Amino acid sequence: MTNAPKKKLIEVSLPLEAINAEASREKSIRHGHPSTLHLYWARRPLAAARAVLFAQLVDDPSSRPEEFPTIEEQDAERARLHALLEQLVVWENSNDERLLRQARDEIRKSNNGELPAVLDPFAGGGAIPLEAQRLGLEAHASDLNPLAVLINKALIEIPPKFVDRPPVFPGAAETRNGWSRTEGLAEDVRQYGDWMRGLAQERIGRLYPKVTTPDGSEHTVIAWVWARTVKSPNPANPIEVPLVRSWWLGKKKGKEAWIDARVVDGEVRYTVRHDADGPSGDEDGTVGRKGAYAVGDGTPISLNYIRAEGRAGRMGTHLMAVVAEGERGRLYLSPTALQAEAARTERPSDVPEGDLPKNPRDFKTPNYGLTTWADLFTNRQLVALTTLSDLVAEVRERALDDALASGMEPGARLEDGGASAQAYADSIATYVAFGVSRLTDYSSNICSWHSTRETIRNVFGRQAIPMVWDYVESNPFSTSSGNFLGQVNWVSKAIERVPAAPPASVTQSDAAGRNYGELVVSTDPPYYDNIGYSDLSDFFYVWLRRSLGGIQSKAVSTMQTPKFEELVANPYRHDGKSGAERYFISGFNAVFTRVRAVANRDVPLTVYYAYKQQDTRDSGTSSTGWHTLLDGLIDSGWEVTATWPMRTEGKVRLISSGTNALASSIVLACRPRPTDAPATTRRAFVAALKAELPEALRTLIQGSIAPVDLAQAAIGPGIAVFSRYSRVREADGSDMSVKDALLLINSTLDEVIGEQESDFDPDTRFAVKWYRQYGWVQESSGIADQLARSSDTSIGALERGGIFEAKGGKARLLAPGHLEGAWDAAADERVSVWEATVRLAAVMAKDGADKVAELLPSVQTRVNLDAVKELGFLLFHEAEKKKDTKDAILFNGLVSAWGDVNEQARKYASTPRSSQQAFDFDEDED
Ligand SMILES: C[S@@+](CC[C@H](N)C(=O)[O-])C[C@H]1O[C@@H](n2cnc3c(N)ncnc32)[C@H](O)[C@@H]1O
Repeated sequence: MTNAPKKKLIEVSLPLEAINAEASREKSIRHGHPSTLHLYWARRPLAAARAVLFAQLVDDPSSRPEEFPTIEEQDAERARLHALLEQLVVWENSNDERLLRQARDEIRKSNNGELPAVLDPFAGGGAIPLEAQRLGLEAHASDLNPLAVLINKALIEIPPKFVDRPPVFPGAAETRNGWSRTEGLAEDVRQYGDWMRGLAQERIGRLYPKVTTPDGSEHTVIAWVWARTVKSPNPANPIEVPLVRSWWLGKKKGKEAWIDARVVDGEVRYTVRHDADGPSGDEDGTVGRKGAYAVGDGTPISLNYIRAEGRAGRMGTHLMAVVAEGERGRLYLSPTALQAEAARTERPSDVPEGDLPKNPRDFKTPNYGLTTWADLFTNRQLVALTTLSDLVAEVRERALDDALASGMEPGARLEDGGASAQAYADSIATYVAFGVSRLTDYSSNICSWHSTRETIRNVFGRQAIPMVWDYVESNPFSTSSGNFLGQVNWVSKAIERVPAAPPASVTQSDAAGRNYGELVVSTDPPYYDNIGYSDLSDFFYVWLRRSLGGIQSKAVSTMQTPKFEELVANPYRHDGKSGAERYFISGFNAVFTRVRAVANRDVPLTVYYAYKQQDTRDSGTSSTGWHTLLDGLIDSGWEVTATWPMRTEGKVRLISSGTNALASSIVLACRPRPTDAPATTRRAFVAALKAELPEALRTLIQGSIAPVDLAQAAIGPGIAVFSRYSRVREADGSDMSVKDALLLINSTLDEVIGEQESDFDPDTRFAVKWYRQYGWVQESSGIADQLARSSDTSIGALERGGIFEAKGGKARLLAPGHLEGAWDAAADERVSVWEATVRLAAVMAKDGADKVAELLPSVQTRVNLDAVKELGFLLFHEAEKKKDTKDAILFNGLVSAWGDVNEQARKYASTPRSSQQAFDFDEDED
């Protein structure tokens, strides 16, 4: 191969711990997070997308030998880049211009002074294009799904057109001194949203009467709590009975509220009670997975009966309670005839059309007769949503007048590339339409009441539409859970924080057919059959199409979101399971073959793979989706050069000992494999693994990676060896499968990690061997004696070293619990790497990083701290093999906090770290 492209940082090392920590922290950040613009499924964390793009574009120092000739210099430069990345991924730094400028400079340095353009052809909720834009790169996004297209337009295409402008809504510009970035745009969205709300209230406010409490005071209603009903199948008592999952409304201590239902004169009557004596366990609610029962006489009601009644259109509703805004918290009130009556409005004639998909896995309501999109809303909800949707066009008209009045030129429409008054009005309308679309998620008869949080539960708690029995209708005009202005505010806050940097382009295209030019590609394709994006999106799309028909006419041109080209292994669409599998694999391979043919050669491709629940229970080497992805990429002519596990769970969950047990997704870096790549044999493949893995592992351990992630990250360099060949021949002449290659990689990894052992001091070598065999349990002293001799130490020395105990013919390693107390390493007679590692891990678990940091300055006068870290890795690996979760967590805890601990230790250290001494003990002492 001539002119091999330079290795990028992502192909060598990443500060994974910091990235993972930020990615998981991001999940709890809501205000101003771009994801609050609109719901989408399987969003990647921004921290991960940002880090991946940076590391994909920046050279690894080893590929610039003229600047960094020695390993030490390369390590130091890599550490510098890691430090920058660690800053870059912090949410609070997202719009830190100084930091972003530094990142851009690094990217330029590695790309001939240019900032490359980036494409995500499966852009979804837009995390990758948004982060590309933040890094100053020209961002190209496309997706088949029009909802995704609209979200991407709203995130990256519209905002750069209107930066640093004051709002145009009359009177709004004067409320502040200056308007920078997207503040004006965000303010206008809020203002027009509020204006629109006012108009809607004038038109339909009567449908939302206030409620009067027994003391005569009036309160705005937050929600009406309804039960679906069926006629009891008891022929002797065929009354209409409610189907209720839970009677509870509020569970706050001292403020409990629940619904008491009783039959009076052949009717069920509902009273809200305020005490803690409400029903629990099986007595709570009337319907469960196995069926229901009738209030009053307890007649069992089968789900089949309920389904049949539902499908025959015989399901009814009862108002069970009203939730209102109180001075201090929610008020829960018994229903009144007036409140029930207010809901009984006519169904509007122009509701969105369309049937729910035939996909019983994700859509449960058709079973019960709710078969169209409009069926998922009550009449009152339909009135509110059609009214608000119609107002979107009025907002556009008004915003256009105001924009012109503010002095903007008319210009072209947004769809025609405009960036002036017409386009501005289209943009405002698009954002308020998102407000309406967001509201549908809180204004459907699939929303229920969350009695612990006392809020409305949205439709898409999961990526599916369940059947909900007791549902709530929210009040769009309240100021509480599920109101319209609240939705607009989320949209507006998201706009305030988008990067709005270089111009971006967003198109609706099938990834299999689009143009890839010379673009750098980073993408997160669909994961086999995990999520039915198009089916789910139609819930929102039918409304967006209604409100944006004249505004985003290209994006919403189809009746429903396109289905057939969607790359999802959907058995209901593609002729059963095997048809779906064939469809997915051939589609996936076609896309990546196409990308390979024309993609940028200087920069690797990055691809995300997210595990679904089932996968995470598998071990890393046996998951179908994962193999399909690796196979697909390799078959499409790619060499996989790195695999990075990304975690978004806050806590390390060591539920199984599988290597992937913790990663919620994996990012792969890939390079086009030369068409003339040679074939090889199994034997040569194994030899290459043995030759290359130790160095790759050294670099990984050197970087900040948690032990739990090492095995998964090490697949990268291993699969890189495998995928560099056109094929690897087994002894019988057949081609080695990815699955077998992964098994070989794992066992080589095992050997390589084990080999580190020989570099440790004798006491540590002994302890590792003993731990591997016996853990912390007692064994015969005779065995200990033999093992000690073969490790060049002795029982006496080990005892003096404070790590071992031999008594009455029995011996054992001292468990971490014995070593967690006060310790002054500097004054200790004999210190081994083992003692330091186990003590520090124990202290870490008991007292945390601060305490460990206090100990480090004295520890480093006795042992090499890098050796401690390496032993931490090794012991994690051993514990995992033994399926000892407790120990695995212990050692993972120490090593994954290593970077922080060292940082803190510098505060305590009187001597700089570089002055650390080598191993300090008497090898021949006996
Ligand atoms: C995993 S999601 C992307 C999520 C995104 N990275 C984010 O953070 O929000 C995959 C996307 O691929 C899209 N998709 C599926 N088939 C497609 C096709 N043939 N062409 C283009 N996009 C497609 C889906 O609509 C979905 O938005």
